[in-house]
Amino acid sequence: MLKKKHLLGIAELEREEIEAILESAASMKDILKRDIPKVPTLRGKTVANLFFEPSTRTRTSFEIAAKRLSADVVNFSSAGSSISKGETLKDTVRNIEAMIVDAVVVRHSSEGVPHYIASFSKASVINAGDGKHEHPTQALLDVFTIKEKKGYIEGLNIAIVGDITHSRVARSDILAIKKLGGNPIVVGPPTMLPLYVEALEVETAHCIDEVIPHVDVIIMLRIQKERMKSPLFPSIREYSRLFGLNRKKLEKAKKDVLIMHPGPVNWGVELSPDIMDFERNIILEQVTNGVAVRMAVLYLLIGP
Ligand code: CP
Repeated sequence: MLKKKHLLGIAELEREEIEAILESAASMKDILKRDIPKVPTLRGKTVANLFFEPSTRTRTSFEIAAKRLSADVVNFSSAGSSISKGETLKDTVRNIEAMIVDAVVVRHSSEGVPHYIASFSKASVINAGDGKHEHPTQALLDVFTIKEKKGYIEGLNIAIVGDITHSRVARSDILAIKKLGGNPIVVGPPTMLPLYVEALEVETAHCIDEVIPHVDVIIMLRIQKERMKSPLFPSIREYSRLFGLNRKKLEKAKKDVLIMHPGPVNWGVELSPDIMDFERNIILEQVTNGVAVRMAVLYLLIGP
């Protein structure tokens, strides 16, 4: 069981709690393989998805996860809401909560919004991505997927490549991998590594070719143009040449290397289209596992 009412970040989780979520997710995955992949565990509970920023995978995945557990789901997106009439974030959340919900899943472009909501919410708050800060369920599904494929995380070298500065996934992945005994290596041009990168206490590299032969997993990231004030590299073509991944570069990789990406992928930028059908591209398996991991999180936070 989790010790807290909310899931706000990997930073707040102890190793045992992460392991409990992964164990529960494995059971949830078994449920998803049944002919009727649905259980009554959360019957009578309501989950509200509050998305103030676009999402395809996370929102859909939370909705499917809640429905597989028989919870009711309401989806709120800021577009078309009364926020355009001046209603505040706090009022919006309090009004939705007044309709009696047990969990609110929050995505917002500003760091700390899920923490703020947790400060007044009666419901359990789950961070579905807050600005550049954290995306805990993405990290949980990433480590679940790696563990499923490799059997363990301890001692694995895991490269995280790209726009580390603007990536909440990188931040949560680094924390989760380290807590489980793995070795994250962040790779990117100096302009895409945080100013005080040493505070992350991870290995760093500025050249993808340098790390490819030594790593067990490569997590590629999208360039987050929407969070950049000005371009951090001369051209997409140059970025792609220096930091993108293609089959040619993978010739130097370990035979069992795994290629991951949280999505959305910009094919032709960080990943060459020839990676689409690469046998160890497990990007869609990450998406499948996202449902099991989010079922586990919902069950552990608001379950019986
Ligand atoms: N990985 C991820 O957060 O994807 P979405 O933005 O589509 O939810």
